[in-house]
Amino acid sequence: MEIATTRPGSGTIPPRARLHSDAPQQSLDGAWRFRVSPSLRTAPDEWRDEDAADWGTIEVPGHWNLQGYGSPAYSNVQMPFPVDPPHPPDANRIGDYRLDFHASPEVLAHGRRLLRFDGIESAAEVWLNDTLLGTTRGSRLTHEFDVSGILADGVNRLAVRVAQFSDATYLENQDMWWLPGIFRSVTLLGRPDGGIDDLFVHADYDATASEGILDITAVVDQGGSARLTIAELGIDDVPAGETLRIPGVEPWSAERPRLYGATVRTGSEAVTVRIGFRRVEVRDARLLVNGAPIMLRGVNRHEHRPRHGRVFDATVARDELLLMKRHHINAVRTSHYPPHPDVLDLFDELGFWVIDECDLETHGFEHVGWRGNPSADPAWRDAFLDRMRRTVHRDKNHASVIMWSLGNESHSGSNLEAMARWAKLTDPSRLIHYEGDHASRYVDVYSRMYAPHDEVREIGEETLRPAPHDATPAEMHRRTLPFLQCEFGHAMGTGPGALQEYWDLFEAYPRHAGGFVWEWVEQGIAVDGPSGETRILYGGDFGEDVHDGNFVIDGLVDAHRNPRPGLLHYAAVIAPVAVNVDADRSAVHVANRYDFLGLAHVAVHWRRVVDGEVTASGTLDLPPCPPRSTVSVDLPEESRTDAAPRVADVLTVEAVTTVAAPWADAGHVVGSGQHVTEGHPAQPAASAAEPREDSVGAARFDVATGGLQALAGLAIAGPTVGVWRAPTDNDRDLGNDELDLPSYADRWRAAGIDRMVTRLVDLSAGDGGLVVRTRTGTPILASAIDARLRWTAIADDAVRLDVELEPNDAWTTEWARLGLDFVLDGEPLGADIAGYGPMPSYPDLRSAARFGWWHLDADDLTVDNVRPQESGSRVGVRDARIRTRSGALHVSTLDRSFALTVSRHSRQALAATAHNWELPAEGRTFVSIDLAQSGVGTATCGPGVLPRYRLPARSAAISLVLRHEPASA
Ligand code: GAL
Repeated sequence: MEIATTRPGSGTIPPRARLHSDAPQQSLDGAWRFRVSPSLRTAPDEWRDEDAADWGTIEVPGHWNLQGYGSPAYSNVQMPFPVDPPHPPDANRIGDYRLDFHASPEVLAHGRRLLRFDGIESAAEVWLNDTLLGTTRGSRLTHEFDVSGILADGVNRLAVRVAQFSDATYLENQDMWWLPGIFRSVTLLGRPDGGIDDLFVHADYDATASEGILDITAVVDQGGSARLTIAELGIDDVPAGETLRIPGVEPWSAERPRLYGATVRTGSEAVTVRIGFRRVEVRDARLLVNGAPIMLRGVNRHEHRPRHGRVFDATVARDELLLMKRHHINAVRTSHYPPHPDVLDLFDELGFWVIDECDLETHGFEHVGWRGNPSADPAWRDAFLDRMRRTVHRDKNHASVIMWSLGNESHSGSNLEAMARWAKLTDPSRLIHYEGDHASRYVDVYSRMYAPHDEVREIGEETLRPAPHDATPAEMHRRTLPFLQCEFGHAMGTGPGALQEYWDLFEAYPRHAGGFVWEWVEQGIAVDGPSGETRILYGGDFGEDVHDGNFVIDGLVDAHRNPRPGLLHYAAVIAPVAVNVDADRSAVHVANRYDFLGLAHVAVHWRRVVDGEVTASGTLDLPPCPPRSTVSVDLPEESRTDAAPRVADVLTVEAVTTVAAPWADAGHVVGSGQHVTEGHPAQPAASAAEPREDSVGAARFDVATGGLQALAGLAIAGPTVGVWRAPTDNDRDLGNDELDLPSYADRWRAAGIDRMVTRLVDLSAGDGGLVVRTRTGTPILASAIDARLRWTAIADDAVRLDVELEPNDAWTTEWARLGLDFVLDGEPLGADIAGYGPMPSYPDLRSAARFGWWHLDADDLTVDNVRPQESGSRVGVRDARIRTRSGALHVSTLDRSFALTVSRHSRQALAATAHNWELPAEGRTFVSIDLAQSGVGTATCGPGVLPRYRLPARSAAISLVLRHEPASA
């Protein structure tokens, strides 16, 4: 077996479209014989005809290292072996697959027969009945072999030798797990004589004439011709290949994915295609479809399942696309390879704008300064072109695909340029995308990843200004291109912050066409723990020498596709309807952010809630509101504030659908807005209890520290002053805008804010209260925060606490937060809050949070991040009942709101633990009341915390009531 060439595979028929046909097919999926050898050098020569009875078995499709043959490995940019192209290492597992089978009579009825592989990682040699059919390269691409004279009526022996690594690995260094094997289906196809071997549907749409322009090229065996029927359009058995102008067709868009079922037939075969008419163009540096600008509200989608890797499951795929649609996602970049072919059908049907990306990434060469990069080496030219051909031909008939992407992170070179040229010639109806062409010479869109906000603004401004007189031709060309971010908002851990700020820029500049969050799903691998529980693992957990740790855990949904808070916030940022309520509640402004739809399918409801009780509600009459326009509607009298509320008076206006969609019942929220009038709580009167140094009414204190010990029998310790958080993934990384600084996590550690020490300065009882003054300082350094805490008795079960915090002038580090930390006995059971929720929020990650009276269960309090870190804050809280096993603590503000975090884990434990399943049970409840917080940013890729969300040392004050409520309350 040859696994160190620079050539594409061999022996396959030319790539062609995936077609739904009435010709017979036979699946060869199932249990195959399998054996793995540690190296090609030691793999047995007689593997094809040796008795395989004592080999193991393997499920096809599947990855062998997820089926007990070895273990998975994860690395991102780093190659797992020496960069020595085109050679793989000697230690390179070789999988031998064998299947003895009978071909079905239906397949055998045809003299022409094909054997199709939809995905083999990374290189294969394929034999049938002792005949070498050829080899494959391009793991996520389809390969078909002609087995006409070879397939027998009787037992057929299929033997496939697969190398985990090969020359192809240099072209497939995507950021994901190394998962070898036959991982997509294997199929036998009977091909009728005179059948339809290929089809190319060109379904253009002329928006000015409201006319579809259809041209279907069919490649028919033996040079025959095919006929076309589209019953719905009155097209009945006309010759394919003629250009048809069809007035009055409805165009396809992601918002209204109108498909017309068509049949193309010859005497021996009928093929069905679903046709979407649409025209993709660039005009005046704008991305247009059917003459209208579009906004890509996108995600990057890898194919990943926690126990099956990249093996396709139709239900999971459909469900996840429905989940995307429910969260207003309208675009997918198929990072970084063509997905399973059936996913394209789903994209067409459900409505997604798709960037279909070729299976190509040579990122490993970055570590050697791009020396020897295949993209620029003519020896690899055919391999590059072969990948592009297989991508385009397989998926060319899908309306959803609006751009072909050459691949990802392969630097630059003439081979990429050749791919672009070939694709443009073959399919001028779509745009070419490639982020790595920094000069934008051979692409149709200006694409970037993780460009910081300021640069996104600058790129938007650029096209509004005349070009400088010394602009190069390349710059001049780039100014004519629309801009998108093929990756932004790195969804790793707590985050991604500042998506709203990106979106505001995308909407502000006509050139901007949106972007794709990195990434949709966390690529964790699930294994069973000792008690049968599921554990999610990441890079390094399988003993890999070279790995990139938890960088593979960076999704808007977890590996099981449960939404992370980031998805909920992103959904609010990109919601198709924006609702803004005037400050005096006189009117609401409803902005239609669809590109094609009016709001006829939307109703607008309002609801006024005062101190948790609904006091009035209604529905507004919405005048016609065309795409990309805004209407204003008056609000009725009853929606307005009259008497001052105790906690808050909240007007919520929601736009909901009135008709069901495949992804959501009617009533689905497509936009919402609020106006919140914060309350003026009554100031409680001090009770008669005489304060002492160790007690104030119901509160008991430790005279040595001045700290609270119990409140009406509830054990509670604190407050201590805290400015640290358990570093998030983003805190551990450097934003691309501040590479000259250590990460926040390192800065905080150096400043000692993770280990602050408190000294009691003074304790004085009298004058109706107990005043505790403390100084909380960092070890090694002189930075400190002075606190003045005044405790007043107000009831049998409650105290008032007035807090003033004042930093000294020795601080040089920004803080994560400024808060008061309490520890209660017993695990948390949940919390009821009046504040922004229900999902967690931070200053730059709060778009979805709405003021409400939220009931949170124990598991809602924090986020079960695979790698533990700070999570679970709720901003703008005015009232909270924190339920624990030993009772409930009720905290309410007497003035300003606070951010609340309730966790079953201490920050120290979170910071010190590598996996969620390793967190110790601490049996306590950790409560933080934050008076200020830093944002979270997206520094793992992209900008860190934006300046306006950073937290330099500052003073703060708050007045609270703390009350013990019995556990049963
Ligand atoms: C990008 C890359 C992605 C992924 C991401 C980080 O540079 O294209 O594949 O690695 O960074 O998660």
